[in-house]
Amino acid sequence: MRVLITGGAGYIGSHTAVQLVEAGHEPIIVDSYINSTPGVLARIEKVTGRAVPAHELDLVDEEGTRALFEDVRPDAVIHFAGLKAVGESVEKPYDYYRNNLQSALSVVGGMMATGCRTMIFSSSATVYGEGSVPLTEEQSDLSSSNPYGWTKVMIEQVLTDIATASDLRVALLRYFNPVGAHPSGLMGEDPTGIPNNLMPYVAQVAGGKREKLTVFGGDYPTDDGTCLRDYLHVLDLADGHIAALEKISAEDISVRAWNLGRGTPVSVLELVHAFEQASGQKVAYEIGPRRAGDLTAVWADTTRAREELGWSAERTVEDMCADTWRWQRLNPDGYRTAL
Ligand code: NAD
Ligand code: WQD
Repeated sequence: MRVLITGGAGYIGSHTAVQLVEAGHEPIIVDSYINSTPGVLARIEKVTGRAVPAHELDLVDEEGTRALFEDVRPDAVIHFAGLKAVGESVEKPYDYYRNNLQSALSVVGGMMATGCRTMIFSSSATVYGEGSVPLTEEQSDLSSSNPYGWTKVMIEQVLTDIATASDLRVALLRYFNPVGAHPSGLMGEDPTGIPNNLMPYVAQVAGGKREKLTVFGGDYPTDDGTCLRDYLHVLDLADGHIAALEKISAEDISVRAWNLGRGTPVSVLELVHAFEQASGQKVAYEIGPRRAGDLTAVWADTTRAREELGWSAERTVEDMCADTWRWQRLNPDGYRTAL
């Protein structure tokens, strides 16, 4: 299948491009590079042995997006493009609503104009609000605590309404906590500035780029007092997209949500210790105050993805840490590191 990957230069999109090539599909990337760099393209080529075509475009531009669809004529779209920093979305809600909502609408418009019927959408566990764990897709009262999360809830609704009224087929994939890197050491997460998320921060402490990790809260009602999350390897996540793509294409499903996680809660300190083990490096940390908005425990019920997509996350926390460390060690400056 010819698959247009919006946001394909980003962390998850670039790994999905690699897995699509490996699975015999034909990915085409579009990205504005607002949170990524074209440097990733050479890495994708090195890993796969194939140059994946890439277009530079801000998908907020409706006409430009339509022209792109007329040019590329994809069979399916995986829509990763969007801004994703929770804290920044609270400070700049207009930017988040404009970028994420408008680009999703442009992409659907391009699909409708060119008869492309199949979309995989990057949603998030954040749409479950404060639902009780393990989180299941049956929970219907979606909500969020921040503008970023609301863009996911809103886009899910927009896509559901359009799919219901048309022949569009939509997979809503609710990711838990994607981490890890390509085992080649050539590709990984490349945050600009101070990382917002735990794994890249831990990797930078282990690599000597940052002095110590602040653990946000040590007094949660969990065994070691730190929050529980459902970390999954980015390559397992990428494979989940391919499983969903093949499912909705083959079975003509209108709209369906699937959780993509491992279904196993891991605490902040467990992740820190697993990273120390995998890297052989000390990860200095101190326990600090709680971060506003953090929930005690978030993990997935993965039954539906297992039974319907035949997909489950196979890579372990040790794999996630070992692959992240290899990426960090070999690329201290991310994609700015010379190949
Ligand atoms: P990322 O920032 O690395 O990738 C997103 C890409 O989209 C970037 O390359 C960015 O330049 C591009 N982009 C943003 N707005 C654009 C626009 N208007 N036009 C064209 N390109 C645009 O993020 P990621 O971690 O790879 O996440 C991919 C998707 O998955 C996002 O939608 C994100 O919200 C969602 N998601 C991520 C996580 C996570 O923890 N990483 C969890 C749940 C959901
Ligand atoms: C994990 C745990 C922190 C940093 C976020 C988004 C979510 C989804 C995935 C997109 C928490 C703790 C973190 C640090 C810490 N993204 N932590 N010190 O918050 O579970 O999820 O990314 O959809 O919507 O909210 O991930 O990696 O930020 O935090 O102690 O420096 O690590 O408190 O318990 P989170 P995270």
